[in-house]
Amino acid sequence: MLNVIIIGSSGMLGKAVHARFPEAVCVPRKRFNTHGEWWRDSPAMVTCVAKLDQPTVVLHCAGLNREKSEIVGRVGAMRSNVYGTYNVFDFCDYMDASLVYFSTEYVFDGTRGNYRPTDKPNPVNYYGETKLAGEIITLSKPSNMVIRVSAMPEPFPYRMAFTDVFSSRLPIDQAALKIEQLVRQRSQGIHHVCGPRQSLYDYALSRRVDAIPKEADSIFFRDVVKPMDTSLLES
Ligand SMILES: NC(=O)c1ccc[n+]([C@@H]2O[C@H](COP(=O)([O-])OP(=O)(O)OC[C@H]3O[C@@H](n4cnc5c(N)ncnc54)[C@H](OP(=O)(O)O)[C@@H]3O)[C@@H](O)[C@H]2O)c1
Repeated sequence: MLNVIIIGSSGMLGKAVHARFPEAVCVPRKRFNTHGEWWRDSPAMVTCVAKLDQPTVVLHCAGLNREKSEIVGRVGAMRSNVYGTYNVFDFCDYMDASLVYFSTEYVFDGTRGNYRPTDKPNPVNYYGETKLAGEIITLSKPSNMVIRVSAMPEPFPYRMAFTDVFSSRLPIDQAALKIEQLVRQRSQGIHHVCGPRQSLYDYALSRRVDAIPKEADSIFFRDVVKPMDTSLLES
């Protein structure tokens, strides 16, 4: 039997994952940031541990996604995604539980697409760098797992979508189903959870009939270098 803790259960990914593990103990953020110095011993974590005899798996869904990282900047992104991940890693090590860390296609440079889990990462911006640093921390213990997820919320929130940016998105509930399988199988190492390669516009059109095509513009780039084809292959 798995005793599961979810950190970051109020976010998009965390909610979808919680729906697959309704029995999990969820850690509310409140004022306890994962990057806080004494996070492991915070009342939030002490209460959480008291609810579970022995946690076996920690699903680490807390962190800044690409949009939020670009808003807070490099240092803020590093705090949440790197220091925060180190603290969660440290907690798992202390509790002898496996850490499942959710990473991103943005660890790749996007020059060719169709990246496999064994391909060498080469992030081109600081969001990708912070997420790769989290992967390195996680994988310093072989029993842990990194899942690079390429997912979108439902219903698809944007009417306009880019014809020249390629990815391998899938709806978040489908991603959560695949995540559940990997976690219940007690998989280790790096895994990709993704759909077929297509432009963001083609993906948008598959989710809503009124999608409008456009080319990537300054709103997409926001003064940050962006990989243009981050499509993933599962193996
Ligand atoms: N969404 C995706 O498709 C996707 C794909 C790959 C990887 N990921 C990764 O999954 C993580 C969450 O992404 P998301 O899209 O679900 O973002 P989100 O909707 O913004 O949710 C972020 C979650 O993390 C919590 N959080 C953020 N910083 C925290 C901190 N320092 N301490 C404690 N809790 C913190 C938030 O708590 P509050 O609600 O209290 O702010 C919220 O529960 C990110 O690390 C992202 O890189 C997401």
